[in-house]
Amino acid sequence: MMIIRQFEPYDFEDVLNIEMEAFTEHNPFVYMNFYEMNKEGFFVVSMNNRIVGFVMGYRSAVNEGRIFSLAVKKEYQGMGIGSQLMQTILNVFQQQGLRSATLEVRASNHIAKTLYQDLGFIACWVEQRYYSDGENGIIMKKQLSPLCWVNSIQASL
Ligand SMILES: CC(C)(COP(=O)(O)OP(=O)(O)OC[C@H]1O[C@@H](n2cnc3c(N)ncnc32)[C@H](O)[C@@H]1OP(=O)(O)O)[C@@H](O)C(=O)NCCC(=O)NCCS
Repeated sequence: MMIIRQFEPYDFEDVLNIEMEAFTEHNPFVYMNFYEMNKEGFFVVSMNNRIVGFVMGYRSAVNEGRIFSLAVKKEYQGMGIGSQLMQTILNVFQQQGLRSATLEVRASNHIAKTLYQDLGFIACWVEQRYYSDGENGIIMKKQLSPLCWVNSIQASL
């Protein structure tokens, strides 16, 4: 059974293992700091009591949320888990009344770019040599529909 829930400190080691497998740049300190600063934007997914993915997002500007990191364990990829984690953090942003979500992705990461495009993200610009190995970063954004609009539309129907 798949459960998406907020990160707890005892998930730390599992999250780090996924991070080590998924990314070439590592910074273990980021995770506990992120938890201390942005609990409400840090989610893990468990399958049969095993942590198999995580997403981290935070309010980066008055009206904007930023997805800081997303990863799914290799053997669980392609099952829709990444999309559901993204949906979870986008719902949080929406509940916070944010108007847009933003993220950066390696130019070569076609799987992630496709996932983000499918969720409505649009590539906006390129940050040259954004990553420490010199690769360019693509900045992508998605417009969110604030709940107040939805409510006011429903009220006027
Ligand atoms: C990016 C990542 C989180 C996606 O997670 P996931 O659970 O595999 O994603 P999903 O199963 O929800 O797939 C969503 C979409 O991604 C694309 N996708 C996923 N796996 C794919 C694969 N092996 N080949 C091609 N496209 C793929 C598809 O477009 C898919 O949509 P579809 O189901 O309609 O075909 C995962 O590949 C990962 O952890 N990668 C390493 C870390 C990383 O790159 N993180 C993003 C940094 S910006």
